Amino acid sequence: MIPILRQHAEQQFTEELDALQKTDTRQRPTNWAMSPWAVATYLLGGKLENGFEVSPKYIGSRRIIEIAIATLTTDRALLLFGVPGTAKSWVSEHLAAAISGDSTMLIQGTAGTSEEQLRYGWNYAELLSKGPSRNALVSSPLMRAMEQGKTARVEELTRIPADVQDTLITILSEKSLPIPELGLEAQAVRGFNVIATANNRDKGINELSSALKRRFNTVILPVPSSEAEEVSIVSKRVAEMGRALELPSEPPALKEVRRVVQIFRELRNGQTEDGKTKLKPSSGTLSTAEAISVINSGVALAAHFGDGVLRAGDIASSLVGAIVKDPVQDEVIWREYQETVMKERSEWKDLYRACRELDE
Ligand SMILES: Nc1ncnc2c1ncn2[C@@H]1O[C@H](COP(=O)(O)OP(=O)(O)OP(=O)(O)O)[C@@H](O)[C@H]1O
Ligand SMILES: [Mg+2]
Repeated sequence: MIPILRQHAEQQFTEELDALQKTDTRQRPTNWAMSPWAVATYLLGGKLENGFEVSPKYIGSRRIIEIAIATLTTDRALLLFGVPGTAKSWVSEHLAAAISGDSTMLIQGTAGTSEEQLRYGWNYAELLSKGPSRNALVSSPLMRAMEQGKTARVEELTRIPADVQDTLITILSEKSLPIPELGLEAQAVRGFNVIATANNRDKGINELSSALKRRFNTVILPVPSSEAEEVSIVSKRVAEMGRALELPSEPPALKEVRRVVQIFRELRNGQTEDGKTKLKPSSGTLSTAEAISVINSGVALAAHFGDGVLRAGDIASSLVGAIVKDPVQDEVIWREYQETVMKERSEWKDLYRACRELDE
């Protein structure tokens, strides 16, 4: 078997999806692979009646996930919105995998996304030799999802130019896609819906028109509410990714994960945990996703160039990389944090020293 670097959710969690489908006795919306309740269990984890354990994919509010799933059973599409790294793409992939058994009907929104990419294109060899026909038409993932009654995903919706975004309005309100060249239309089959993601921090984003906004139910994915929650997200994802990347190391000590998460939270919130010291917030987003990659890079360093145990020296450089995004402004903020916060914490001396050494 060829080793795949990253499996789609439905490949990686086939066993869980099968177990859920088998035990699921609740009502399923037409063309859904399982009931809304089972989709929620797939995302949030839980134990089935027969004792089978479903692992949690999303850690956070159950209600948010329930609202997201309920939306997809209605005629409105779902927009997952929030700051970077709050698991919008992750949740979107898992929802599509659970509902449709296929998370790959995906359009990646960019400034260059064209109308054809949302609708359909043509196979020009076929078009020129035989003229326009259904055979010459190349469906977009969105059109395929419509025809198969499945979930389509649009990533980074707000990066798509406004006039191209408007293509979605007809699809979402009429549930049909006209193909004037053939005098036809593709009508969406029951079970079709769209999950879009968008973040509010990126430069060069295009506002959604109010007409399009009305076709979506917006669900905001928040940053983790407590430090404990964030620590558990980071530990879990790092362990999973370490396994997937076959890193020959021990799972990172909770202590290191806690420190990274605490630093990120303090710089994000503009004050230390005890509220005693005010800090200038850094310009980087310092998301949970970034905390995960800081620990991951550290684990790789420790695994290949250390003794496999994650230490302060292994996380210092990627920590700086994540925090100092603007070389002038953030450098000052980071320096101040090291001197006023890190240096004062007696059990953080190793990390303080490791960070200082990088500057020398
Ligand atoms: N609450 C959470 N529960 C589980 N995993 C989480 C959570 N928050 C973040 N993650 C992890 O963070 C990583 C990044 O998430 P993802 O790429 O989905 O973020 P995003 O919101 O789409 O960010 P962007 O706006 O940059 O596209 C994923 O590996 C995901 O597992
Ligand atoms: Mg994303």
